[in-house]
Amino acid sequence: MKTVVVLVACVLGMAVARPDLHTHLYGAQVLRVVPEEAAQVYYLKGLQLQNYFDFWTEPRAIGSPVDIMTTAFQIPLLKHTLTHVGLEFRTMISNVGELVAQQKAAREGARASGPLSLDWTSYYDYEEIMAWLDTLATEYPELCTVEEVGNSYEDRVMKLLKLGKGGADKPIIFIDGGIHAREWIAPATVTYIVNELVTHSDTYDDLLSNVNFYVMPVINPDGYAYTFTDDRLWRKTRSPTNSVLGCRGADPNRNWSFHWNEVGASDSPCSDIYAGPEPFSEVEMRNVRDQINKYADNIKSYLTFHSYSQLWMYPWGYTSDLPEDWQDLDDLAVAAVEALTAVHGTTYEIGSSTNTIYAAAGGSDDWAKGEAGVKYSYTIELRDTGRYGFLLPEDQIIPTGEETFEGVKVVANFIRDTYSP
Ligand code: ARG
Ligand code: ZN
Repeated sequence: MKTVVVLVACVLGMAVARPDLHTHLYGAQVLRVVPEEAAQVYYLKGLQLQNYFDFWTEPRAIGSPVDIMTTAFQIPLLKHTLTHVGLEFRTMISNVGELVAQQKAAREGARASGPLSLDWTSYYDYEEIMAWLDTLATEYPELCTVEEVGNSYEDRVMKLLKLGKGGADKPIIFIDGGIHAREWIAPATVTYIVNELVTHSDTYDDLLSNVNFYVMPVINPDGYAYTFTDDRLWRKTRSPTNSVLGCRGADPNRNWSFHWNEVGASDSPCSDIYAGPEPFSEVEMRNVRDQINKYADNIKSYLTFHSYSQLWMYPWGYTSDLPEDWQDLDDLAVAAVEALTAVHGTTYEIGSSTNTIYAAAGGSDDWAKGEAGVKYSYTIELRDTGRYGFLLPEDQIIPTGEETFEGVKVVANFIRDTYSP
């Protein structure tokens, strides 16, 4: 009898826990813990796999903070649990729902004053960003072309911006953002960088004549749209799964075919790190893959933007082993971060993604290097280090753009110097 009750409670618990996680953000909190022994790291990894709580950052190692969001209803449970295993916690965000609502009101206020053009003082939705790409192609035809490269699961058109004036045989830097829907600063930063290059094309004439930038600012369109309409903290795609609980979406950064699902991913469709039923099950990732494959011979660097934690990482993510040319990747990352930090003092950690954070296979960065042969493949986790996390205030978009642009320019100049004939 007792086991039956426990079992029923578990099933019910899961049923109410996961799908509701984000619909009751009011009173939700983000707590930070810093594991001090290996057993606590393992405990937290286990807790993450239960899907009761939304891990804003994943358990890494002793001494690395882990940010966990809990609904109001489960705050006592989480606090009690953490205390029970000897973990002290600190409240990072005391009311997630209130912060989301505040930021939403500010955004809507900014829009009330008439038709918009992007100015990086607020975040823009999918339609706005796609419309902006089209205006670039009409206003700067000698610099920008826009191609439709496929549709998302929910039929949103995905676009590739080709930026440069040196002709198709020049080395390419492929840049994307927004693979994880809630990481809004990523598309904002990618579009900021494009805007700088386009509106100061005289200053960057030499660069734009010798390097092509191929850019997809939002590669998880449905997830991104969903964060504007329904759930600010959605991470995955929006495709249906076989889940009886109705859970949707796969983690698009666990969905790539290189060492797919070997480590750091989940088979559970309700998990935020669900690898999907098979490699490239998600049409959005197939669309991006096809573009990278198409130009693979010329792509010398792949930059994929995420948030948060301030990390500049290179492969591998599936193993703690390093690629044989890791020193080249490390050297360029060090130079890029030095330029980034010089702008506003923002500090970054550098390293292979497994050794910097955790092993997680099926990422786009590993695939770009391991399958497509792109040597300088990086995952960049933008601001901040957890004060706001995914809810980075709009007044940090421009400073984030400014500093990140300096880092990207270091990469771009290096690619020009190294590969442009
Ligand atoms: N935070 C990113 C993620 O979890 C890091 C990805 C790093 N790359 C990797 N191949 N694991 O998706
Ligand atoms: Zn991410």
